[in-house]
Amino acid sequence: MKTIAFFDTKSYDKLSFSGRENDKYSFKFFESKLNENTVSMAACCDAVCVFVNDNINRFVIDKLCEFGVKLIVLRCAGYNNVDIKYAKGKITVLRVPDYSPYSVAEHTMALLLMLNRKLHRAYIRTRDHNFSLEGLCGFDLHSKTAGIIGTGRIGRVFGEICKGFSMNVLGYDPYPSNEFVGEYVDLDTLLKTADVISLHCPLTKENRFFIDQSAIEKMKNGAYIVNTSRGMLIDTKALITGLKSGKIAGAGLDVYEEETHLFFEDYSDEVIHDDVLSTIISMPNVIVSSHQAFLTKEALKDIADTTLYNLDSFFEGKELKNQVL
Ligand code: NAI
Repeated sequence: MKTIAFFDTKSYDKLSFSGRENDKYSFKFFESKLNENTVSMAACCDAVCVFVNDNINRFVIDKLCEFGVKLIVLRCAGYNNVDIKYAKGKITVLRVPDYSPYSVAEHTMALLLMLNRKLHRAYIRTRDHNFSLEGLCGFDLHSKTAGIIGTGRIGRVFGEICKGFSMNVLGYDPYPSNEFVGEYVDLDTLLKTADVISLHCPLTKENRFFIDQSAIEKMKNGAYIVNTSRGMLIDTKALITGLKSGKIAGAGLDVYEEETHLFFEDYSDEVIHDDVLSTIISMPNVIVSSHQAFLTKEALKDIADTTLYNLDSFFEGKELKNQVL
């Protein structure tokens, strides 16, 4: 019997994994995130199961190895929160590369529609019996240009959704795909041409602040930005400057560069000590959701299925199809 320690466990994780324990595995669910302060909770476990905001740095990897933990299974696709280079040769890291891309792509369009048609403001107004339409004018997506940065599984589905709205679809990706429904262009052309820019590439050391002041300056006046990928891809301070000047007409953010200590938790009774986040959240043309784009029943089932497959592959000595690196 192998013991698997789940970190950053929420009710929906417990639901999708409960009933999946068998004579091979027992699950220990912890609400804490895995980091330097909590790694001792993994002592006596065979594997840790982590999510996007667990911090698996060198210290944590060394401690896991000291405790005899052999495996890190990620309940997500991105792995920027794991020091992969350091982990190599010390501990195996497996991920879930393939869960429903529709969950994230559909949330991306939800953010765009909500922003453009000001539904976040309309919802609040009508609840207060304010039926005025002042300030709620949007634009047709029909014939507008979507610029998709990263045309992997999610970016491609988002491209198809945009096509469904009769948008022109442009893409930028160093590794183009035949399955992309749009037209590939260089990054500058995409930035200059797109009415809506949507990020779907992974975060790497090389593309931190991919959307910075200089990228924003190249954009069309009044462009919209949607980011459902990773927060660090955007320099939020530069985005705020762009929003203040009107260069950027609106931003839909499911991720935020400093989300680790905030997202997924309830701080509604507290003052947030993050002035950048407080500023951007207060803007009427910004919608922030707290990294919820993945959160559909279908995606959660896919994540649980693949995580169990990853555990079986490792502990039964089979081929590791989802190994990182
Ligand atoms: P994928 O691996 O299928 O596609 C990523 C694409 O980005 C690839 O085609 C790759 O060539 C391209 N790419 C890499 N570096 C690039 C760069 N510098 N510029 C442009 N393109 C670049 O990944 P998938 O499944 O489509 O996911 C994309 C990202 O979405 C993930 O890396 C993750 O960060 C994020 N994500 C967010 C979720 C959420 O709940 N908000 C849930 C799942 C993923």
